[in-house]
Amino acid sequence: MSNINYPDHVAVPCRASTEPLNLNNNMNSKALNLDQVVNRAEVPTLKFDGETMRRIFGTADLWPSWVADMDFQAAPEIQEALSKRLAHGVFGYEATLNELPNAVVSWFQRRYDWSFEADHIITTPRTLNSLATLISLFSSEGDGVIVQPPVFYDFKLILRAGKRRLVKNALKLEQGQYQMDFAGLESVTAKAENTLLILCNPHNPIGRVWSKEDLARLSEICVRNKVFVIADEIHSDIYFQHKYTPLASVSEAAALNTATCISPVKSFNLSGVANSMIVIKDEEKRQYCKDWYNRMQISKNNVFTNAAMLAAYTKGEAWLEQVTEYLRGNLKTLRAFLLQNTSLIKLIEPEGGFLVWLDFRELSFDAKQLESFLVIEAKMATNPGHWFGREGAGFARINIACPRSVLEAALLQLGQAYSNSLNESGNKNGA
Ligand SMILES: Cc1ncc(COP(=O)(O)O)c(C=O)c1O
Repeated sequence: MSNINYPDHVAVPCRASTEPLNLNNNMNSKALNLDQVVNRAEVPTLKFDGETMRRIFGTADLWPSWVADMDFQAAPEIQEALSKRLAHGVFGYEATLNELPNAVVSWFQRRYDWSFEADHIITTPRTLNSLATLISLFSSEGDGVIVQPPVFYDFKLILRAGKRRLVKNALKLEQGQYQMDFAGLESVTAKAENTLLILCNPHNPIGRVWSKEDLARLSEICVRNKVFVIADEIHSDIYFQHKYTPLASVSEAAALNTATCISPVKSFNLSGVANSMIVIKDEEKRQYCKDWYNRMQISKNNVFTNAAMLAAYTKGEAWLEQVTEYLRGNLKTLRAFLLQNTSLIKLIEPEGGFLVWLDFRELSFDAKQLESFLVIEAKMATNPGHWFGREGAGFARINIACPRSVLEAALLQLGQAYSNSLNESGNKNGA
C-alpha cells in the first residue's frame, strides 16, 4: 500500500483484486476492465512518488495527475509477450528483429496511409533523446528553433541545454480552439537564423490533432523558407474525432523536410519499457543521423523492449480502441461535471490524447493563487499552465487516463474547492 496519505474522498489507488494477473486464461483485450484501480504506488512510479510530489507541490496528499502516462495496465497481449520472454530466462544478445521495424511500417501505412521503409527508422532510447539529438545534428549553437506554445515544457529545457534560442510562434485561442498563427509562422521562418521548427502533433497540452490542411500549410511555409521540421508525434494514436495525420504523409516535400519522432510509449502506456524511433526519408540526413547513433553505440534494443513493442504494434490495436473509448467516456464525465458544477472553468475540447487543458481564467487568479487553488484547495497534482510557456498562464493540464471512479473523486474535490473559492470571494465582496 502507498504511504501517501490520500484524503478520504479520493479513491485510494489500490487494486480491486489482490489476485495476481493470470496470463494463461485466454484473457485478451476483449475483456478489459479499465475501471479496475491498480495500486501504482506499490512499485516505484514517478507520478505517485511522494518525495517527488512534495518537492514539486509541497505536499503528496494529492490526486497524481501531473505525469503523461496512464494508470491502466498494458494490453494483456503485451503483458503476455513480456511474461513469455521473462520465463525463457536467458537474456543474452538478441539478433536484430526485422519483424519490429516491419510491424511499425505496416502500422503507420495501414492506419494513417503514411508510407516509409523499415530502413528509414532509427531506434533511439526515448523521444527526448531523439529531439535533443536531432536539434544538435541539424542546427548550430545560437540558432533559433521555432516552437508553438503553449507546448510541452521539455522542448524549452532541451533547447536551453543545447544553447539554441527558443523562438516562439504562439498558438492563437479563437472561439475555444487553438489555431496555428500562419502569419507569425511566415515571419519567423523567413529569418535565416531560425533553422528548425519543432511541431507537436498531436499537440501536448492543448489536445489538437492537427488537420491535414494545417499540416500542409505549415510544411509548405517551412519548405519554402528552408526550415527543417522535427515532428514530435509521440501522441499519435489516440484521437476522438478525425484521425491523426503524420506531417510526413502530407506531401513528398513534407516527407523530405521532416524528421518524425514516433514511439508506442503514450499510445500503449509503455514509457517504462519501450524505445522511441526517428523516421527520416531524406537519405543524406538519415545517414548523418544513423552515423551519429552508430558512433555513440546507441542502437541495441533491450530484449523486453523488443517483446513489448512487437506485441504493441502487432496485437495491441483492440486494447488501444477500448482505451480510446474509455477516455471518451472520461471526457464526457469531465465535460458534464464542469458544465454543471464549475461553469467558470472551461474545457478546451481535446481532439485526442489523454491530457486535457482547462481554462481557469474566469476565476481571475494570478499564477500563485491558481497553484494554491489546485494544490491546497482542490488537492490536485496537475501541471499549471505557465509550465508550458507564458501563454499558458491561467490554464492547467490534467490527465484523464485513470479509472472513472478516480476521476470522479478528483472532480468532487475540484467542485468543493470551486464552491469554497466563490463563497470566499462573495464574502470578501460583501464585506
Ligand atoms: C510531446 C512529448 N514529447 C516527448 C515526451 C517524452 O517522451 P520520452 O519519455 O519518450 O522521452 C512527452 C512526454 O510527456 C511528450 O508529451
